[in-house]
Amino acid sequence: MTNGSDRRHFIKLGLVGTAAMVAGCSTGNGDHPNDPDEVKGTKPISPGKGPIILSTWDHGMAANAKAFDVLQAGGSVLDAVEQGVMVTESDFSNRSVGLGGLPDRDGIVTLDACIQDHNGKAGSVAFVQRFEHPISIARAVMERTPHVMLAGAGAERWAEENGFARRDLPMAEDARKSWEEWKAKNPLIQAAGDSARVNVENQRMGGKDNHDTIGMIALDANGQLAGSCTTSGLAFKIHGRVGDSPIIGAGLFVDGDVGAACATGTGELMIKIAGSHTVVELMRQGLAPEDACREAVERILRKNPGMTGQQVGFLALRADGAYGGYSLYNGFNFALNTATENKLIDAAFAKKWE
Ligand code: GLY
Repeated sequence: MTNGSDRRHFIKLGLVGTAAMVAGCSTGNGDHPNDPDEVKGTKPISPGKGPIILSTWDHGMAANAKAFDVLQAGGSVLDAVEQGVMVTESDFSNRSVGLGGLPDRDGIVTLDACIQDHNGKAGSVAFVQRFEHPISIARAVMERTPHVMLAGAGAERWAEENGFARRDLPMAEDARKSWEEWKAKNPLIQAAGDSARVNVENQRMGGKDNHDTIGMIALDANGQLAGSCTTSGLAFKIHGRVGDSPIIGAGLFVDGDVGAACATGTGELMIKIAGSHTVVELMRQGLAPEDACREAVERILRKNPGMTGQQVGFLALRADGAYGGYSLYNGFNFALNTATENKLIDAAFAKKWE
């Protein structure tokens, strides 16, 4: 594991990266493709050969396995990233993705998801309730509407009209208990309706032991990229809050010419720097995947001096198959699945939890 703070000052835009990995082998220096036009971003990066599937956290292992099976069975990379994260959405023991997720402060589970293909086509849903697979609704928005994003009651009505059935699940006992405990500990926040302050510290996503969003990015054997992202969002959020996960460019970004990135952690921080788009653009400018993720994390740190206790993490997959991840704090891991490997990797990080 690498403590990135030691190296923070050595990152310069355009520097050849030092930490990318390529599935199945190491590049040695993880450098950018040598073609200067690729480095300048004026020419697409030569596509690599997958399958390479990356997803956030250890819940990514089961999701990756499904995505891999989809590709092996001849499915598209878009099918793979959709069906992969559906596994996590259907795991009702998961407290940060899908209908099993922790509720907002009103005790309601609201879901965000998005999906994007190699050519940049995208679909998204935000603030939807009582659907098992928001990722599939997001894909349907992409494929069946002229829009990118539907939200709230309109998204729910459109989903029902388009064949998605509502699913009512009672809140799990442990989730209810966490919510009750949170309410008991935070009476002022509730009474003030958050007008007095925004306090997301010490909540689930800021906590060091908690997991978050699943973001998945994948490259298939034909060099096609796609990505998906789905979450129940920040626990005990204000009813109506939407995070980074359904926002193309924040929680997920795919540009088939360059690569893909996805994000996990406190969504507000991602949105403010258009995090996943930033990572892809940094790769376009020549940074290796891990270096691009690190620069995005360090940008968040520079923009939020004094901030503590918020975890953020990025994954990046370059079009040629190099990949990397980086987080603000230790503890972020990601799942990798290729023809030869299926494992969890501890991401490099900037700081250690106190
Ligand atoms: N990263 C998920 C969220 O903030 O909602």
